[in-house]
Parts: sequence; C-alpha cells; structure tokens
Amino acid sequence: MALRGTFSSRAGFIAAAAGSAVGLGNIWKFPFEVERGGGAAFVVMYLVFAFLLCFPVMVTEIAIGRKTNKNPVAAFGSLGFPKWNLIGKVGTFCGVLILSYYNIVAGWALGYLIEMLMGNFDIGNQFSQAQVGAGEYYYAGDILKVVVYSIIFMWMTSYVVGKGISGGIEKAAKVLMPSLIIMLFCMVGYALTLPYAMDGLKYYLIPEFGEINASSIGGALRQAFFSLSLGMGTLITYGSYLSKKENIVSASALITLADVAIAFIAGLMVFPLIAFNNSGDLTNLVSGPGLLFVNLPNAFGSMGPGIGVAVGSFFFLLIAFAALTSTVSLLEVPVAYVVDELKVKRKKAVWLVAGVIYLVGIPSLLGNGASEFFTYAFKLPASSDFLSLAAQLSDTLLLLGGFFIVTFTAYVWKRENFNAELAQGFDGFENSLVSKFLNIAISYICPFLLGLLFIVVLLSNFFGINLI
Ligand code: PFF
Repeated sequence: MALRGTFSSRAGFIAAAAGSAVGLGNIWKFPFEVERGGGAAFVVMYLVFAFLLCFPVMVTEIAIGRKTNKNPVAAFGSLGFPKWNLIGKVGTFCGVLILSYYNIVAGWALGYLIEMLMGNFDIGNQFSQAQVGAGEYYYAGDILKVVVYSIIFMWMTSYVVGKGISGGIEKAAKVLMPSLIIMLFCMVGYALTLPYAMDGLKYYLIPEFGEINASSIGGALRQAFFSLSLGMGTLITYGSYLSKKENIVSASALITLADVAIAFIAGLMVFPLIAFNNSGDLTNLVSGPGLLFVNLPNAFGSMGPGIGVAVGSFFFLLIAFAALTSTVSLLEVPVAYVVDELKVKRKKAVWLVAGVIYLVGIPSLLGNGASEFFTYAFKLPASSDFLSLAAQLSDTLLLLGGFFIVTFTAYVWKRENFNAELAQGFDGFENSLVSKFLNIAISYICPFLLGLLFIVVLLSNFFGINLI
C-alpha cells in the first residue's frame, strides 16, 4: 500500500478532486445551459440537483475507493464481488475515451494561448464551422499545429501524473486551483467594466421560468454529472489515496460547491465578453466550442493590441489550467490500474497509457475537418464526426456507471458497510441527518434518476428518440 502513494493533506485532496471537476465543461458549457434553461432559476435548480443526485454519488465513489485502496477495476472484487469489477472496466474505458478527445480540445486552448500571445486574434475566424450539424467544428488553420499542441498537452498531463499523488497531482492542483480562482475573479472584474457588460449579465441571469421544462432539467442533471467527474471511478481512484482520518462527507460537499460556484462565476466572465463582442445583441449565439474558439478571440481583438494580448492570453491560460487538472485525473484512472494490477512502475505506466490514449484520440483529431471519413461517417442523430461519437458514448456510459455504482453500494455491498466507512473521520455520522439523506439517496433517488436519465440519453443520442 505504501507504494501506491497518498494525498498528504485534506486541502490537497479537495484541490485535486475539485480540479478534476472544474474543467472545460464549467467554462463554456455551464453558462449556456443556464441561459437556455431559464437564467437564475436554473442555477438554483442546478444546485439542488448537484446536491440531490451528484453529491451522494461522489460520497459513494470516494467511500469505495478509500475502503479498498484500489483502482476502480479491482475495487469491487476487493469488497468480495469480483463480477462487479465490470463497472470499473467500463469506467476505465470511459476514462480513456474521454481523455482521448478532451486532450484535443485542451490542446486547442493551449494553441490559442500562443496565438493570443502573438496577437493573432484572427484565429477565431480560421476556426470555422462546418455545415454538417451541431457540434461540428474544425480548426481550419493547420492540422499540424493541432497535433503539436495536443502532444504538448498530453506531455504536461503525463509529467504531472508521473510524479505521483502527493508530489504530482496534489502539488499541481495546489498551485493551479488557487491561480485559477484568482484569474477568474480578475477576469470577471475586468469583463464587468466593458461596454454592454450589463446586457450580458441580464441575458445570463434574468429568470425565465417558462424555459424550465423536462428537457432543460434533464440537461442540467447530465451536465452536473459530467461536471463533477462522476460515473467512471475517478473519485474511487482519488478516494483510494485518501487517509482514514478525513471526513468524506464534508469534503464531497465542498468539492460539489466549488464546482458549481466556479461554473457560475465563469458565466459572469463569459457573458459580458460576448455582449461586448456583439455590441449588446445576444440573439444569435453559437454555443459550445464555437463560443470559446470563435467568438471570444474577436472580443479580445477589439480591445486593442496591448490589452487584447494580455486579456486573451490570460483567458486561455485560465482554460488550460482548468483543463489540466481534469486531464490529470482522467489519466490517473487507467494508470492506477496498470500500476496496481500489472505491476508496472508509475513512470513507465504513465507514458505507455498516455501513448495509447493519444492514438485512440487520432480519429477525433482528424474528425474536425481534416479527414472526410472521421468528420462525416459516424451518423448520429445530432452529429457525424468521431469526436462527437466519443463524447456522446462516454456521456451515456457515465450515467450507466453511476447507476451501477450506487445500486451496488446500496444493495450488494450494503448500506451498513457504506455507513461504517463514512463514520471514519466523521464522529456522530450514524445519527446525523446527512446520513439519513445519503442512505435514502443511494437506495432510491440516485438509482431512479440515473436509470431514467441513462435511458433518455441513450435513446436521444443514438436513436434520435426524444422522450423529454
Ligand atoms: N469534470 C470535467 C469537466 O467538467 O470538464 C470533465 C471530467 C473529468 C469528466 C474527469 C470525467 C472525469 F472523470
């Protein structure tokens, strides 16, 4: 066990887990979910769901990890139920799949950082939108650049993971997360001074209750689940490096809150910037990658050369920081498996796994316009490129993974064992209100919502059937 490494402090664990949660999803996806879902009312709803659905799953994953000191593939077997290791296998596969495309988007952010430093604000216009449906974009500039930047990003991720838990993942998170928060506040402060900032804020926050419907609620739940890095065993892995002294329940609450808060604050930065770029007219906006990679460079460009370079590079540095703490957690899951089970030394395991994941990502890399086949051949209801296929498949599998993790805990591993693990580091847990809530949540609320959501998302992503 000593060989596996541990987090050296509670703050380090929270920084690393919050770092995993806060990622690309928070900066560009959440603000648009808020706008589409009805503004401020949606934020409140999102917060409620994050605590009702996601927080109990997070507690469960960390408890399984800490109890077993194992990676997700071996954890279930170590509790006495080897057949359930399949959950961990699917989760680890999901991690490989997510990192394979996430690394490419992170590479774009890195590339944009360099372009901003060089004052090339026109890069946004080169990042054109292909006319093949939602989610299809290509970095028309230069495929070679995308290859180079994505290799650099994978190298940075591998470097951190190669240094181990306390010396790599924890140390990086303790620097990157506070920097990210400071940068975010600086950016919000600056963005709010721009012309049309108030139009952006109004667009973001004024509640429109009429826009809350089943589909926006479903969207909120999915987004919250992905945003909190749940369903594939990331937190089983991080939990396996956590000391028995720590209070899992309060740590999970803090991580959940940090993720939601940072997502919300990111909106206070993003919308004033977009409003500035569109002179206050926010009627026809592109969301997703288009927002970050097309719209915003123009905004930085129109701030004037000096300030544009500063603000633009600051912005993409912030995105790269957010992405790095997430890619690190994604890589750690398969690495932990190779280190624990195949007894390969950490550094060697890291380079091996990272290399394989990079190769898995090549179809996604080529699927943004460079290769006709990988851009158009994967016909799904809402997209046809490989990157979207990988994203939608992993999104769906995460919900299934979450469903099985809570069901396993409540009905196979049993609640008394779950409670006993949580009581370590939390005096008085057994009789607390939160204990009652968690037990009801993992037995009824979470399996029901996750099972339902899995079916809804499966049908909509792969069969074009929209139940809600
Ligand atoms: N939570 C990250 C984000 O919102 O960008 C993405 C992610 C990281 C998902 C790690 C899953 C995971 F295991």
